[in-house]
Formats: sequence, structure tokens, C-alpha cells
Amino acid sequence: MTQSKKDKPPGKVTLRDVARESGVSVATVSYVLNDTGSVGEKVKKQVRTAIKRLGYRPNIAAQAMRTGRTKTIGIILPDLRNPFFPELAQSVESAARANGFAVFMVDTQESPTAEAEGIYKLIQYGVEGIVWCPSSDKDYFKEYNGAVPVVVIDRPLPDYDTVYSDYVKGGHLMARYLLDQGHQTIGLISGPQSIESAAQRRQGFLQGIGDQASLQWEVENPFSINLCPEAVAALLKKDVSVVVAGNDMIAIGAIKLFHQHNIKVPEEISVVGFDDIPWSEIVQPALTTMHQPIGELGKEAVNLLMRRIDNPKASRKSVILDVALVARQSVATR
Ligand code: RIB
Repeated sequence: MTQSKKDKPPGKVTLRDVARESGVSVATVSYVLNDTGSVGEKVKKQVRTAIKRLGYRPNIAAQAMRTGRTKTIGIILPDLRNPFFPELAQSVESAARANGFAVFMVDTQESPTAEAEGIYKLIQYGVEGIVWCPSSDKDYFKEYNGAVPVVVIDRPLPDYDTVYSDYVKGGHLMARYLLDQGHQTIGLISGPQSIESAAQRRQGFLQGIGDQASLQWEVENPFSINLCPEAVAALLKKDVSVVVAGNDMIAIGAIKLFHQHNIKVPEEISVVGFDDIPWSEIVQPALTTMHQPIGELGKEAVNLLMRRIDNPKASRKSVILDVALVARQSVATR
């Protein structure tokens, strides 16, 4: 018995309709959909034709009710205006899709309130796990007592599976490079020290410099192209040979300010960043920075999350990925 598509809107077509249309049992249709059981190719083709003709689409929510699995994960990121994070989201989304999961995204815009609300929403939606890039050192998942598997990405926190880049090594490498280029007077614009990634690269850089160069001044700035008044005042003192920024966005903000004040980069002052976002290649001069394997970060985070979803009692795991110096045109030899 054939039922034309106009009889039932696609969303309303049921397994039973498909079974009736292809002349098989509901169980057989379900085997074909889940690629399980031992169904012959001829019958599979019959069922798939009926699915196409009727426009049947599985109701994920209904399936989730039955199986308790939504095949969705959440990702919480601090700032989608910073090109570092869309690239990170892309690598998480494609790794999740490869594992058969869809992704819900929350952008907290570095706001703790939005972060707490986003976590609550994702758990309400029944995500099976969350990849979280914290906006501070505050642990908002504590109150949920492990209700959902969480992997912390990029900004390590204790008590979680984590994946992040070797910031301390990055700080050391940048220090070594600048000393080799003859830089002796340094201005440091670090990212927020309540964020572990900013604190570790600052620590690595200062260790790397030791007493081989003098730190003229140091200012803390959000991981943003917008510079705080203290940073602007320090930069315009022009009393250093190089400005070391906590990330590429801050470095690009400094280059923009120097352009506005006709201060030549790198002839008068050199500038370096951290991240190697795509903008660092197009800013003039192209930015010397520290490459973070953003694609790998996302992939590893999803691997860790799938591991935790499969085995909630698994031992805690931390993955630290290597970084690499990218020497471009924003540093002059002194
Ligand atoms: O640019 C954003 C920064 O925040 C990056 O350096 C990244 O490591 C994150 O912590």
C-alpha cells in the first residue's frame, strides 16, 4: 500500500509508515537505520527507497528518550571574536562529527555569568559531555559533581582531563630567540594572570630571560586587541627594544597603536605574540609569534571526551602539545 508524501509531513512519517511502505517489519527498518542485524542488500535497498520516498527522518529526541544518549556534546569558548577560538571550535566540531556527535556551542565572551548559564543550559539539553575553555580559574562544574564528563581545553584546571599547549616551553623559546636577536630591554603585556595559559607563558618567558635582559615594565591586559590605558602609556614611553605580548590579539593591538603614532615596527620597536592566528600573517609587518597546534588541540580534546564518556571511572589524563617559534618580520636584530 503506497502513501504519497503529501499525506504526511516529513517530520511526522514514522518507522511504521516506512515498514508498511517497504513491506517489512519495524524491526527490519530499525536494523537498516542503525546498520545492525543481518538484513539482505535487496531488502536494505527497498527500505532505503521507502525512507527517501516518504522523507522519513529519525526523531533524535525520541531516540534519546529511549536510549538515554543524545549523541551531542557541548563546547564552551571564551571569545569568538578572537580567531583562535573559531579555529578551535572547527577542530572540535569535525572530530565530534567523525565520532557521530553533534555539537552545541556557548560563547561566554569571557563573562563568568554567561559561563555559568551556558553550563546549566548544556546540561539541561542533555549533552553527553563538554569541552570547556574556562574564562577564569573558577571551577563552575564543581557544583554539578561530575554530572557530565568534562574535558578542559587550552586553559588547564586541576581535577579534569586536559589538553593544552606547552606554554612554558613557548615562553622559553621566545626568550631565547629575542636574546639571540640582541634584545636587552623588554616590555611585557601579559594576558590575564587568572588564566593558566597566560600565567604559564609569562612564567616560561621570565625564566628564559633570567638576568640576561632587563624587564623595563610589565602590564596585564585582556586577551584582546583593545589595550588598557596602562598598556598604551607604557608602549608610548618607547623605552624598550621589544614588546612581548601574551597573545597575537594584544600584539596586533600594539602594532596598531605604533602605526597610529608613526612608530616604526620593527625598526624602532619590535613586537612578538603567541598563538599564530591567521591574522598574524596579514598584519604589517607580519608577526613573529609562537605557533599553537589548534587543530590537534580540538582533536585531542574530543578523543579525551569520548574516552571519558565510554569510561567515567578512567584515570585522569593530561595531554600537552608542542609549540614552535614562527619568525616573521616584526623583530629587528639589535
Ligand atoms: O588568544 C586567546 C588565548 O587564550 C590563547 O593564547 C589561548 O591559549 C587562550 O588561552
